[in-house]
Amino acid sequence: MSATPLLAHSREELHGALGKFADAGVALVPTMGALHAGHAALLARARQEVGPDAPVVSSIFVNPLQFAPGEDLDRYPRTFDADLEVCAEQGVDIVFAPSVEEVYPGGDPQVTVDPGPLAAALEGASRPTHFHGVLTVVAKLFGLVRPDVSVFGQKDYQQLTLIRRMVADLCMGVDVVGAETVREPDGLALSSRNAYLDEDQRWRATALSRTLFAARDAARYGAAVTIDAARHELRHARGVDLEYLELRAPDLGPAPETGPARLLIAARVGATRLIDNVALDLNGDT
Ligand code: PAJ
Repeated sequence: MSATPLLAHSREELHGALGKFADAGVALVPTMGALHAGHAALLARARQEVGPDAPVVSSIFVNPLQFAPGEDLDRYPRTFDADLEVCAEQGVDIVFAPSVEEVYPGGDPQVTVDPGPLAAALEGASRPTHFHGVLTVVAKLFGLVRPDVSVFGQKDYQQLTLIRRMVADLCMGVDVVGAETVREPDGLALSSRNAYLDEDQRWRATALSRTLFAARDAARYGAAVTIDAARHELRHARGVDLEYLELRAPDLGPAPETGPARLLIAARVGATRLIDNVALDLNGDT
């Protein structure tokens, strides 16, 4: 049996819980709950980063500021009891689960984080205010928890890139770790939003990872062949509405001719918007 994490709903409770640990090496894994094996892997990675004695903190907060009107804020899955079990299994020390009031007392904050030009591309094209909300809440969580290390998933690659950029540009002094994407055996990247898919859509959704893997296999022949391979795979996909398929550099700048790159995809399957991405090596040996 794993120990039950300390549960903190308020800033005071959080600081009380953190006070029970020595000051060195706090790890934070921010989440919006509905935890799955992808989140569990981040929690395990956080433990690995700080060792057995330092506190691992997981925040569970569905952040209204990163949802635009008409997005899925109200129906976002909430599975708090099951989330606590996942945290206990992963040896999390403190679960910080604040209310909206606790995070945003007095309503929306007046001072927020401007995510810069990268936030207008890719996800930002259809979700123009999203990363402003993400970076603002992550900056607040960093301010509240004061972690040394924070672990994020490569699944949300643009988010990870922007958080790295925020930490560098604003000198936040947090070590940002990007953990590998956890997938179902058929390739589908785990996501809390997969719960919206019916059986048929769930099957159709595998087209995203198939597309990325086909491209990765073709990457040694160069960028043009890589994109062709991806488009070829997508032509066979039914019920998948492509939003973007973009080849970029690992820092999401323009794609290089050769060497490490990132291919990112977003598509709608029914009403559900899914994203995925993969690392590839253009003109490389692998
Ligand atoms: P959420 O979607 O709950 O994701 C929390 C973390 O889990 C993110 O770092 C995300 O990249 C990671 N994650 C999700 N699916 C994953 C998978 N299949 N494999 C590996 N990691 C995965 O992302 C957010 O919440 C929010 O934007 C947040 C950063 C908490 C700010 O509100």
